Amino acid sequence: MNLGEKVIYQVYPKSFYDSTGNGKGDLAGVIEKLDYIADLGVDLIWLNPFYPSPQKDNGYDISDYCAIDPTYGTMADFERLIAEAEKRGISLMLDMVLNHTSIEHEWFQKALAGDPEYQDFYYLRPAKADGSLPTNWQSKFGGPAWEKFGDTSLYYLHLYDVSQADLNWHNPKVRQALYQVINFWLAKGVKGLRFDVLNVIGKDPNFQDSQEPGSNQEKHLYTDTPIVHQWIKEMHQATFGRYDDIVTVGEMSSTDVANGIRYSNPTEQELSMIFSFHHLKVDYQDGEKWSDPEFDFIALKQILDTWQKGMSDHQGWNALFLNNHDQPRSNSRFGDVIHYPYETQTMLATAIQCLRGTPYIYQGEEIGMTDPGYQSIDDYVDVETLNHYQILQEKGYPIEKIMNIIRKKSRDNSRTPMQWDSSKHAGFTKGTPWLKVADNYQTINVERARKEGKIYKYYQDLIQLRKDYPIIQEGSYQGIQLDHPQIMAYERQYQGQFLLVVNNFYAQPSKLMLPSKYLDKSSQKLIGNGPLQFLTEEIMLQSYETAVFLLKDG
Ligand code: NOJ
Repeated sequence: MNLGEKVIYQVYPKSFYDSTGNGKGDLAGVIEKLDYIADLGVDLIWLNPFYPSPQKDNGYDISDYCAIDPTYGTMADFERLIAEAEKRGISLMLDMVLNHTSIEHEWFQKALAGDPEYQDFYYLRPAKADGSLPTNWQSKFGGPAWEKFGDTSLYYLHLYDVSQADLNWHNPKVRQALYQVINFWLAKGVKGLRFDVLNVIGKDPNFQDSQEPGSNQEKHLYTDTPIVHQWIKEMHQATFGRYDDIVTVGEMSSTDVANGIRYSNPTEQELSMIFSFHHLKVDYQDGEKWSDPEFDFIALKQILDTWQKGMSDHQGWNALFLNNHDQPRSNSRFGDVIHYPYETQTMLATAIQCLRGTPYIYQGEEIGMTDPGYQSIDDYVDVETLNHYQILQEKGYPIEKIMNIIRKKSRDNSRTPMQWDSSKHAGFTKGTPWLKVADNYQTINVERARKEGKIYKYYQDLIQLRKDYPIIQEGSYQGIQLDHPQIMAYERQYQGQFLLVVNNFYAQPSKLMLPSKYLDKSSQKLIGNGPLQFLTEEIMLQSYETAVFLLKDG
């Protein structure tokens, strides 16, 4: 399979299009908008979870793996969605949330009722001799990672929300049950699988305390442990490895390049590719997400470079992305959406999509949707955001500072309803949206973008470029002048040709000296958002300008 040729579009169903008027998007809504997605030219749609769920973590708390939550529709809707997408040459990628279930899942409920078979599906541990929790681990959403297990004297582990109990993958029955879930969806014709936080499934059952609670050192206790690779290989064999056309991607929290290579090098028989997140932590203060420093541009480039080189040199494969449902909008984060909305969005898209890997586009970025900048905490609904609103207050931060941080970092930033047109609620729903629409929907919406906007068209062209040029699909990667303070430049190389990609990440125009090896070649500009047309020894890039050149002999 040529992974480099594919482009994946992420749909967050709850916020995509509401066909019923209940304020939440649904599968029938995705079907209605399939032509829009198909027009972009993408190959797969990754759908965030739509399974039955109490929605404590927006569907990542699953209470039944093999059904559809009634808010999203029915199994018949899902089957229609697969069929309608296939008609348009698009396949579906589903979210497999196999690290944890909701505590409302039948397995957890049976465990609570005292069934020992199901108690062994989870990590249940007694308190320490001194009465303290089994370990001092922190939940990734804030607070301790252990919660009382019913009215027993035990505690269950939850690395995420208290309603998301971690599954005991050491139990072969758990693994078999999860493989059946995967096979259930593959039998329905699903062609892609996105595995949620897959690299934290391998906890050491002799739970050890962390030396620095909440730190990276703590994460190492349960992240990328050797057994994870063993289980992924087993899962591969028992499920998607039996087909030859399934695209898989593992969401790898705090991973490293060495593990990334193992997860995605085809000879390992694990996954097609991975998501890693280090490049999206460049606006964290000392590793702390809930802070609001300026982003560190040099770090952004260096991290992307390390991953690109490392994976390229050892046949690993990256998922390429700057946006998803957990991240603030990258245009609000790394650019200027007020003064340069077109330049910012197209520059970021070019910088990321021309790298070596498979690009993911998150709904709305193709029209330049932004963070909503809500003024009140009451507008936010995400559990992680609301927890940190409390935690930051307990740390003594003033409310104004907390709100600034939340406006920059909340996951709700990307989850606002898709802006379809300039009618009420951006045409997303006829009811009341579950999350407030961003105020700018009258200027930023699909209807306008398609009629007079330039961003959507640019995305179409960029996607087509990947389809047309093997150098983008397969070329090796080499960074250029990594210490340049404003410009991210890199080359791809394939069969004696070069692709040169230059991006100015700032409003201030900036110069770049080009290596002489490019200048004796003939060059052709393939795409760009600004005036640069020809390559000379020194090129000048305007505000947020991007340009891509193909260089050949003769
Ligand atoms: C990663 C998902 O992307 C995120 O939305 C979710 O909260 C956590 N995993 C827990 O499932």
